[in-house]
Amino acid sequence: MSKEVRVGIIGSGGIARVHASAYSKIGFVKIVAVSDIVRERAESLARGFNAKAYGSYEAMLRENDLDLISVCTPPFTHRDIVMDVFKSNVNVFCEKPLALNSREAKEMVDEARKRGLYFGVDFQNRFLPQHVKAKELLNEGAIGRLIQARFRVGYDILEAVPPSAPMREWLFNREKSGGGVLMDIGSHWIDLSRMFVGSEARSVSAEISSNIEGIGVEDNAMVLILFENSVHALVDVSWTQQNEQWPVELYGDQGTVLCNLGENKIVLYTRNRRYSEDGRVRMITPPLPEIGEPHEYLIRMFVNSIVAGGKPPVSGYDGYRAQEVIDAAYRSANEKMKVML
Ligand SMILES: NC(=O)c1ccc[n+]([C@@H]2O[C@H](COP(=O)([O-])OP(=O)(O)OC[C@H]3O[C@@H](n4cnc5c(N)ncnc54)[C@H](O)[C@@H]3O)[C@@H](O)[C@H]2O)c1
Repeated sequence: MSKEVRVGIIGSGGIARVHASAYSKIGFVKIVAVSDIVRERAESLARGFNAKAYGSYEAMLRENDLDLISVCTPPFTHRDIVMDVFKSNVNVFCEKPLALNSREAKEMVDEARKRGLYFGVDFQNRFLPQHVKAKELLNEGAIGRLIQARFRVGYDILEAVPPSAPMREWLFNREKSGGGVLMDIGSHWIDLSRMFVGSEARSVSAEISSNIEGIGVEDNAMVLILFENSVHALVDVSWTQQNEQWPVELYGDQGTVLCNLGENKIVLYTRNRRYSEDGRVRMITPPLPEIGEPHEYLIRMFVNSIVAGGKPPVSGYDGYRAQEVIDAAYRSANEKMKVML
């Protein structure tokens, strides 16, 4: 690959601006072209980054020699777009959820592998400073052996996504989004559970409910996952919670880690001798690492992995495994049974 990394963006809505801003901060990256089926959106994004605007991604692919494409369109388009980009032998950084279901996600992962292309997914929540610190504490044994974990997130979706937001065109439509809160923020939180537990799901039991009038998808979900390493985790996601909360709780046999996005701190309770001379439970609030904005951090690491020929920080395979748990959760809730993976 030449020294300059030539980037294209497909979809020019809300998250595309975050990707564009992240790429623009990497000195050796050039945003060459952006596209959107609503051409004015592509033009508006392109103006800010001195890029070419296209009303079709196929034309963008045909007319430019690109190294990497960010796919920032709604979930129902991900599979076809990503497969087309791979067929042009271009690396992909795709938005979450990776696809409408794990079958589609697997096809995408297989195609990337077959062609030796880089395939990343935007699970940036792994790189929130408190999550990076929590994982570091877990890895160094601060809470001993992990026994169980809880990953909760709750906010008010009608506040977060007002009627004027373009996202409303697809977010509450099952055919386009693949589902509600579980696909949307749940995909992030299921990925976090996999990342922290460090194992694959063995079984999944879930309950979902729909409470907001007039939307065609679930707005609450609780997913109980038993992992292959015997850790069990609860992923509890809500779109109907007025007091916004994003807590992650890790319980080990020697301590606990608690963090909550927004509080911007992490609390460690531990009787591990490394932290507590007398072995009695101590409370510590370790400093957080300087990560910066997590999308920017992840995109920079992903680009660096392509340039250096290294392992991507989060891969399409991670997106596929998260999707497998989501599929199992829907099946469990709909068929009222525990699903084995
Ligand atoms: N990682 C995160 O935290 C995060 C945050 C927000 C959104 N997202 C994800 O990003 C994706 C897009 O979300 P958004 O908020 O930007 O939505 P959005 O509705 O604001 O933007 C999507 C854009 O894609 C365009 N589009 C649709 N089909 C297209 C096609 N075939 N070719 C080109 N453009 C097309 C639409 O016209 C729209 O402008 C979703 O998968 C969403 O879940 C992720």
